[in-house]
Amino acid sequence: MKKLNIGLIGYGFMGRTHSNAFRQVNKFFQLGYEPVLKAVCARDEAKVKAFAQNWGYETYETDWRKLIERADIDLIDIATPNNMHAEIALAAAKAGKMILCEKPLSMDGKQGAAMVKAIEKAGVPNMVWYNYRRVPAVTMAKQLIDEGRLGRIFHYRAKFLQDWTISKDLPQGGAALWRLDVKAAGSGVTGDLLAHCIDTALWLNGSIGTVSAMTETFIKERKHNLTGKVEKVGIDDACAFLARFDNGSLATFESTRYARGHKALYTFEINGEHASIAWDLHDLHRLQYFDHRDESKLRGWRSIHVTDGDQPYMKNWWVPGLQIGYEHTFVHQVADFIAGLDAQTPAHPDFRDALETQYVCDAVLKSAGTGRWEKVRKLK
Ligand SMILES: NC(=O)c1ccc[n+]([C@@H]2O[C@H](COP(=O)([O-])OP(=O)(O)OC[C@H]3O[C@@H](n4cnc5c(N)ncnc54)[C@H](O)[C@@H]3O)[C@@H](O)[C@H]2O)c1
Repeated sequence: MKKLNIGLIGYGFMGRTHSNAFRQVNKFFQLGYEPVLKAVCARDEAKVKAFAQNWGYETYETDWRKLIERADIDLIDIATPNNMHAEIALAAAKAGKMILCEKPLSMDGKQGAAMVKAIEKAGVPNMVWYNYRRVPAVTMAKQLIDEGRLGRIFHYRAKFLQDWTISKDLPQGGAALWRLDVKAAGSGVTGDLLAHCIDTALWLNGSIGTVSAMTETFIKERKHNLTGKVEKVGIDDACAFLARFDNGSLATFESTRYARGHKALYTFEINGEHASIAWDLHDLHRLQYFDHRDESKLRGWRSIHVTDGDQPYMKNWWVPGLQIGYEHTFVHQVADFIAGLDAQTPAHPDFRDALETQYVCDAVLKSAGTGRWEKVRKLK
């Protein structure tokens, strides 16, 4: 098996999910490459050293530029706040490294387009961590749609609800709270949560043509952790938008961090001419399916427990009926990325796919400002 030397940047929430995936993947998937945890990078030396020891990284760095310069690193994995993705990706592409980048790809579409240009010029394998595509039940939804079981699609409905920023005393900025600082995050729930919903939707139902959105920032000022001053809040706390897909279907998307009682309620429902499907992250192994072609006296919503060997990814895990979880979506993503290297057929979503999501986010935020329907920029 060939070695794939990983250089991870950022050891927070995503740094952990990625490290776990790199460690697990060869135990469960037959692949031509083995990820080697070569180096992890973050600024705090004591903490990055402890992280390296805990996860088994051979070495660590405190300056990401040094990591990129290293000849013993094949792949740069970007798990830093959003405002750092572009600079790191551009440098990594220039150095000829493969790149895995966290979502959202960039701060906005313009920056994302520059990243796509650079990475395609460099010709390096790349992927963006929109991991929800690789929940087995979500992958199965894609299969059912591609098999034509739903027929013509009429409706797509998605939401992603949280409740962790309701307190007005919560500061913005710095470690753990960079998501509230527009300079680090680019936007609020639109880039953070709706980007996931949009990526899944584009994958399942094709391109979005136009959007009409509203956003709100409920808490207008918060103390900034880096300056110590009370500063204006620049992110959207909540966003809801209507969309028209190019296939003629209509959609509603909603996201907020002010839905008391919800921690990570990502759901979608798709209604087609013959059948409907629904999925809920809180019950991620189940795909709800209704087929109007069933015999009428038995017709009803089926709750499919996606754990059998002929359902996506599941033959690689335990025995039928036994579940896997959130962390496995990252294992699947690494497995597919490596399988793409083996077969020389790149896995998705790559930077270009993620740019399409960025363009939808741009149109959503523009529409929230103008109060008008806005067209989504098309990929060139
Ligand atoms: N795919 C998903 O479901 C998912 C979930 C959460 C976060 N994300 C994305 O992952 C990225 C990271 O989010 P997170 O939740 O892991 O954040 P986090 O705050 O937990 O971790 C960010 C890490 O970046 C490091 N960092 C910041 N500046 C750095 C620098 N100059 N050099 C080196 N390291 C630096 C921090 O030390 C920290 O380890 C974001 O882009 C976010 O949108 C994706």
